[in-house]
Amino acid sequence: MKAIITGASKGIGKAIALKLASDGIHLIITARNFSELDLLKQEIQKEHPNIQVSIYTADLSNRAEVEKLIEDVFAQHQDLNILINNAGIYKQGDISNGDESILEEMMEVNLYAPIHISRGLLPILQKNKGSHIFNICSIAGLDPYPRAGMYSISKFAMQGFSRCLREELKEKGIKVCTIYPGATWSNSWEGSDLPASRIMQASDVAEVISMSIKLSPSAVLEEITLRPQLGDLP
Ligand SMILES: NC(=O)c1ccc[n+]([C@@H]2O[C@H](COP(=O)([O-])OP(=O)(O)OC[C@H]3O[C@@H](n4cnc5c(N)ncnc54)[C@H](OP(=O)(O)O)[C@@H]3O)[C@@H](O)[C@H]2O)c1
Repeated sequence: MKAIITGASKGIGKAIALKLASDGIHLIITARNFSELDLLKQEIQKEHPNIQVSIYTADLSNRAEVEKLIEDVFAQHQDLNILINNAGIYKQGDISNGDESILEEMMEVNLYAPIHISRGLLPILQKNKGSHIFNICSIAGLDPYPRAGMYSISKFAMQGFSRCLREELKEKGIKVCTIYPGATWSNSWEGSDLPASRIMQASDVAEVISMSIKLSPSAVLEEITLRPQLGDLP
């Protein structure tokens, strides 16, 4: 099996890469920063020397770079069968008075890039067995998120994209899973004085993806909501 993970260099994406490598899945890892991806590759290959790890850098807010990524993966990885649309940015901002450019950037990275990447790689996924698309949405895509209405818009839209894709691909043998994590330790929470126990671990999200991949071909985990045990942060 081979998976592409966007936003693989840190946080949830990195945890998914580490977990899938331990499951014996070859990886294509992408983000903007090459050196962080390279460090991750070294970490994975030290532990799992048989796992192939390919690195591509791309800024997903830039349509030309998204197209180049699709083109390169298409040309070099015809054996791909798992796509994990994880890269995303979170910026605070209300709809009423937030900066417009924040909304546009989040729509590019959190919504349009996953749509273009999914469309672009579908011919490969359709051809291969056991294909699966995971879209890392957010609880902010289920309910309005305080002080981050513009982020919520991008994640509600991602929910719509992912659920529609699930319906479209049902008959084509490609599983689609929408994941709605609550607060999860990552760079976004750096500097926070919350106790570690109040926020989920990125590895919790990775575990459910790993489990979902192991289901029989006749079952799909369509939607998964993961929350801190004590509930959402106020
Ligand atoms: N952490 C949470 O509490 C939480 C909760 C719910 C949902 N989520 C969602 O989970 C996903 C991962 O979040 P995270 O907290 O793990 O994020 P993170 O730690 O900030 O990591 C984000 C990843 O995406 C990459 N990235 C950011 N902007 C990019 C761009 N323009 N082009 C390409 N790659 C880009 C980053 O690498 P580079 O900077 O090198 O590009 C990094 O690898 C996101 O979709 C987020 O919305 C997170």
